[in-house]
Amino acid sequence: MAKLTIGVIGAGMIGRRHLRTIPQHPDFALVGIADTNTKMVSEEYPDAAVFADYRDLLTRAKPAVVIIASPNQVHAEIGIACARLGIHFLIEKPVTDTLEAASGLIEEVRKAGVHTLVGHHRRHHEQVKAVRAILQGRQLGTIVGVSAIWAVHKPDSYFAAGRWRAEPGGGPILINLIHEIDFLRFTLGEIAAVSAIASNRHRGFPVEDTAAAILQFESGAIGTMLLSDCAVSPWTMEQGLGESVDFPVSDQSSYRFIGRKGAIEFPTLVQWTQAGDVQDWNQAIEAQRLPTGRVDPFMAQLDHLRDVVRGLVPSLQDVEDGARTLAATLAVTEEASTSFLKKRSKKLLSMAAEPNE
Ligand SMILES: NC(=O)c1ccc[n+]([C@@H]2O[C@H](COP(=O)([O-])OP(=O)(O)OC[C@H]3O[C@@H](n4cnc5c(N)ncnc54)[C@H](O)[C@@H]3O)[C@@H](O)[C@H]2O)c1
Repeated sequence: MAKLTIGVIGAGMIGRRHLRTIPQHPDFALVGIADTNTKMVSEEYPDAAVFADYRDLLTRAKPAVVIIASPNQVHAEIGIACARLGIHFLIEKPVTDTLEAASGLIEEVRKAGVHTLVGHHRRHHEQVKAVRAILQGRQLGTIVGVSAIWAVHKPDSYFAAGRWRAEPGGGPILINLIHEIDFLRFTLGEIAAVSAIASNRHRGFPVEDTAAAILQFESGAIGTMLLSDCAVSPWTMEQGLGESVDFPVSDQSSYRFIGRKGAIEFPTLVQWTQAGDVQDWNQAIEAQRLPTGRVDPFMAQLDHLRDVVRGLVPSLQDVEDGARTLAATLAVTEEASTSFLKKRSKKLLSMAAEPNE
């Protein structure tokens, strides 16, 4: 079968990762890259056709499919342009920057009937598929809840390289928690309600450095999530999975799922169960590390994109599903911002109560 022609829009941090993976894939042929910074891109990819305007990539190189890896604010505009030209696309997360933009994109995708895939690449890990099957199966019984941590120390250079990361709209809720929310939706189902508290105490940025969220799932399960980008720990999914050379492997679990008949740690897949049919806190509990495969999730994501574009399988996450992950994440941001406001107003009230004479 002929290779699928593919273009990449945005050759920054994640765009480069896609551009490293595409040449290794037997079923895709790169036909061009669009990036506003053509000088940098032409130097880095001297053999590629480089376009400053993504519309030229779409109309002149005519790819069958594109990867949209531009900043969030232009995701919707570019996705709509692709849909109108009948071009299928993989769009990086978050699907768009706002729910309004997502709804405009969804409408155009529906009209055009193009295939879409959102770049929550973790869905393609073997360990993620394995834990999902276990949580949706019978061996742990009904899932009661989940407790999770995502905590690392981002260096100062990370914020110096992108000041937006220290401003509202940046921050670990929208940058990092969105992946965790997507993972939880994928494994436990839709989130029905959230409550959250955020703090900027340690870095003092306008945006949070630490947050905690309580989640309730439509299934009835409840969960807690502690998130920080200013604390040293081995507990992030990135470190546990060792999914990138940028983050050293910890081989530690950052998730604990508990069910009526047993529990499982993730991503190590250590499962805890008791023998027999009666559950009893006086009875011994045994651990077993379940075997699992390992894949490069970006390569597996391309395999899936190929099959989706060829109409062989439904998309694991189309733009509508991506919008549901965005909505749940924005709900955490909103709840957390209320907690900020409460603190601010408390400070103002105490200042008013002690007037300077
Ligand atoms: N899946 C993941 O794990 C993951 C990881 C990082 C980033 N992302 C997402 O990928 C997207 C890009 O993030 P990044 O960290 O690579 O950003 P980045 O700033 O490193 O790269 C963005 C690139 O897009 C280019 N660009 C800007 N406006 C453009 C336009 N109108 N048309 C074409 N190119 C344009 C910039 O010149 C830059 O090269 C974001 O949506 C981000 O949330 C996903």
